[in-house]
Amino acid sequence: MSAASIALSVHDSAQQQTFEIRPLAGAVGAEIIGLDLSLPVNDEAFARIHRAHLDHHVLVFRNQHITPEQQVAFSRRFGVLQVHVLKQFLLAGHPEILIVSNIVENGQNIGLGDAGKFWHSDLSYKELPSLGSMLHAQELPREGGDTLFADMHKAWDDLPEALRKAVEGRSAAHSYTARYSETKFESNWRPTLTAEQLAQVQEVIHPIVRTHPENGRKALFVSEGFTTRIIGLPEDESRQILTELYAHSVLEHNIYRHQWQPRDLVFWDNRSLIHLATGCPSHLRRKLYRTTIQGDAPF
Ligand code: SIN
Repeated sequence: MSAASIALSVHDSAQQQTFEIRPLAGAVGAEIIGLDLSLPVNDEAFARIHRAHLDHHVLVFRNQHITPEQQVAFSRRFGVLQVHVLKQFLLAGHPEILIVSNIVENGQNIGLGDAGKFWHSDLSYKELPSLGSMLHAQELPREGGDTLFADMHKAWDDLPEALRKAVEGRSAAHSYTARYSETKFESNWRPTLTAEQLAQVQEVIHPIVRTHPENGRKALFVSEGFTTRIIGLPEDESRQILTELYAHSVLEHNIYRHQWQPRDLVFWDNRSLIHLATGCPSHLRRKLYRTTIQGDAPF
């Protein structure tokens, strides 16, 4: 019996949990009610969750008392996990978990404090960008700290004709370091990247309009966080078009605002959405654990 079929039969034999998938009021998203991720999730339940993820793009699992091991194990069922380049902020003993936090302990940042400050799709600066990310709330501020998600399928579907024509068939460059230098200059959240880290984040080129490999829908695949230029266009024209694409993508009706509740686990599709952390007052503590699942090369 192969490892995959042993894993399948283990999940198959797990007791069925009863849960509900309830669409949220915003542009995208659904709440998963009644599922406990600290208990086994059998194959039938997993298939429902997978389908809901493709249909709703962001899933909110409420009140999850899971360990880092359980978050990693659940994330792995969707694919290979990516280890973030900022190894300073990986959870000790769990390199698949990036600590997203503004907390400073003994004069040291315990996590990436300004993660998500600009709209982005996780790891779009890699040849194989992320399929999806899971963020599990550990400590939440009493004010602020929301995460916004914008639907990039809808952004493409609604794109004015002139902009469609301007970008169809074109590609754009994505870079981790472009904003990094700017953000580093403005705050002290970002450590200087070593030569080894820089080698892991070389600029990549991706299509501006991608086809989702699982739901078959087209989506805009650019963001102010990581996209730097449109290939083959003069700098000013490229900048102008990107600015218009960014503004169009994040129109109010295209957004779901997630207001975190204790122990929420939020799982979004980076092939369908871009997201933004709105931030919170700096004296309030915020800490979340992120796992990031590798996706395919965009086409
Ligand atoms: C991220 O971009 O992964 C972090 C989002 C957040 O902190 O709300």
